[in-house]
Amino acid sequence: MRYWSGLKMKFSSALVSLRLLLQLCIRTVHDISASLFSTVWYWTPGVCRGASVVSTADREVDQKEVQNVMTPTSVNYHFTRKCNYKCGFCFHTAKTSFVLPLEEAKRGLKLLKESGMEKINFSGGEPFLHDKGEFLGKLVQFCKQDLQLPSVSIVSNGSMIKEKWFQKYGDDLDILAISCDSFDEATNQLIGRTQGRKSHIENLHKIRSWCQQYKVAFKINSVINTFNVDEDMTENILQLNPVRWKVFQCLLIDGENAGEAALREAERFVISEQMFQEFLERHSSVSCLVPESNEKMRNSYLILDEYMRFLDCREGRKDPSKSILDVGVKEAIRFSGFDEKMFLKRGGKYVWSKADMRLEW
Ligand SMILES: C[S@@+](CC[C@H](N)C(=O)[O-])C[C@H]1O[C@@H](n2cnc3c(N)ncnc32)[C@H](O)[C@@H]1O
Ligand code: SF4
Repeated sequence: MRYWSGLKMKFSSALVSLRLLLQLCIRTVHDISASLFSTVWYWTPGVCRGASVVSTADREVDQKEVQNVMTPTSVNYHFTRKCNYKCGFCFHTAKTSFVLPLEEAKRGLKLLKESGMEKINFSGGEPFLHDKGEFLGKLVQFCKQDLQLPSVSIVSNGSMIKEKWFQKYGDDLDILAISCDSFDEATNQLIGRTQGRKSHIENLHKIRSWCQQYKVAFKINSVINTFNVDEDMTENILQLNPVRWKVFQCLLIDGENAGEAALREAERFVISEQMFQEFLERHSSVSCLVPESNEKMRNSYLILDEYMRFLDCREGRKDPSKSILDVGVKEAIRFSGFDEKMFLKRGGKYVWSKADMRLEW
């Protein structure tokens, strides 16, 4: 009897030890697998780093590193920030007076062409201001004749354009967009879309007729804001008959037209999404209208500043990349914040070569 109870005790203590051993094994296996799992958790393609050494900032950079390589199909080059107007909502302000030497600007444009650029748009500031439009003219000529770009365009306030410019460079220009936010001169004065007492609207009509004469596609850009949101522009737009009427919802950019460091304070110009929709509905009969809400605008443009740095607007400010002149297009474009899908969604790709348009008025 004593023999059997001793055997039973030995057997049950062996069982307890076995269970403890088993638990120990399970915990060890669990610990090993947990540490292995956490090592591969942050294992991003091509970047060999364990969880313990990867900071949040590093992960953000890694995310940018694994983004697809982008093609700069359509680029907006703001080669100058200087302007003769004072539009109160302007989101590209005169923070510097720098303009690249002509040959450097041409070198950058050639790099872009080699990376797949098909369309260049020259903007600013006011692009006709520097060297009385000669700098701009030479870039337009270079892009069309030397780089053979399918589309060369300009966006301007129109106030500095002379007929002589069309005679010299008009052949090489596909599209000229003139900004006009109101067909009421008093509203233009309030916005700051004017210089002295010159009539912005008369000028718009004059440029339209030069576009017709020199066979350049004529486009209009309007920024919808608190001063013009109730206007009905249908009749005026139909009369001017542009190939495209871009209608922007006034956008705020920190450091440009909002925030402490900004040169403009555009908060009083901002309208709601609903107000913007009502404006669009009022103009639904205008078939050339292309609307651009804040959401569509923010990351659907490839913007190059005066140093040829891409500007990333995703965080609501303009964060610059390195210059394409220093690091090349492929490296700089990774920090452009450009969303190719949004670019296509907003209709960024369209018939943009005048050779493919029927320019009839
Ligand atoms: C910065 S401007 C430069 C070219 C030229 N000075 C002009 O006004 O057309 C380029 C375009 O951006 C538009 N724009 C300026 N500020 C804006 C804002 N806050 N929201 C939306 N569009 C804006 C202008 O009306 C213009 O059509
Ligand atoms: S939006 Fe007005 S202030 Fe800004 S660059 Fe154009 S014309 Fe000049």
